[in-house]
Amino acid sequence: MAVVEALMTKLMIVVGSVRPGRVGLPIAKWVEEIARANSEFEIDFADLAEINLPFMDEPGHPAARQYTKPHTIAWSERVDAADAFIFVTPEYNHSFSPALKNAMDFLKQEWDNKPIGFVSYGASAAGTRGVAALDSVLGFMGMRKVGPSVDISAVWTRVADDKFLAEEREVETLNAQLAQLKSYSELFASVR
Ligand SMILES: Cc1cc2nc3c(=O)[nH]c(=O)nc-3n(C[C@H](O)[C@H](O)[C@H](O)COP(=O)(O)O)c2cc1C
Repeated sequence: MAVVEALMTKLMIVVGSVRPGRVGLPIAKWVEEIARANSEFEIDFADLAEINLPFMDEPGHPAARQYTKPHTIAWSERVDAADAFIFVTPEYNHSFSPALKNAMDFLKQEWDNKPIGFVSYGASAAGTRGVAALDSVLGFMGMRKVGPSVDISAVWTRVADDKFLAEEREVETLNAQLAQLKSYSELFASVR
């Protein structure tokens, strides 16, 4: 059992919106369901609304890892343990979710040399401008964007009774992204 667990990729699914009534939660639950059906992943479901980080409030630069707050230490340990990430995120005003950016800002090395995939959603641009706005942040953090992204447009038509109504092509795209996250997490583990 321990050997099997050691071979599993520790995947953190981050719910990037924190508003009451957010569609991000049912979409992230769908991502979790597909990922859990894949025996190669051990999942950490990181709901930023539950984690409830304040605005970044550490006196030191995160690169020094001299954290002073229990919430930072807990978040650092969780992100450090992850081998790969999927960010489930909206775009707000053609840019990234501030809760997601804030959660990234708390840490530095914990993100470094780890692959990330995106499931984004919104109106016509499907949240892709929010993902594009994160590009320079990912670059600085040393995160490597991999796999095809799942881009969900007209998102308000896609959730009913708190459930995301996935199309077959979205399931296929997510599975392709998971396969890449697995491969790249192994590659980057050798670099870390
Ligand atoms: C503050 C705010 C800004 C938004 N800006 C955009 C936008 O730039 N592009 C877009 O496609 N949708 C935008 N929307 C609509 C969101 O795509 C839609 O409300 C979505 O449900 C937000 O995700 P959430 O429910 O998980 O928070 C915006 C919504 C909010 C609340």
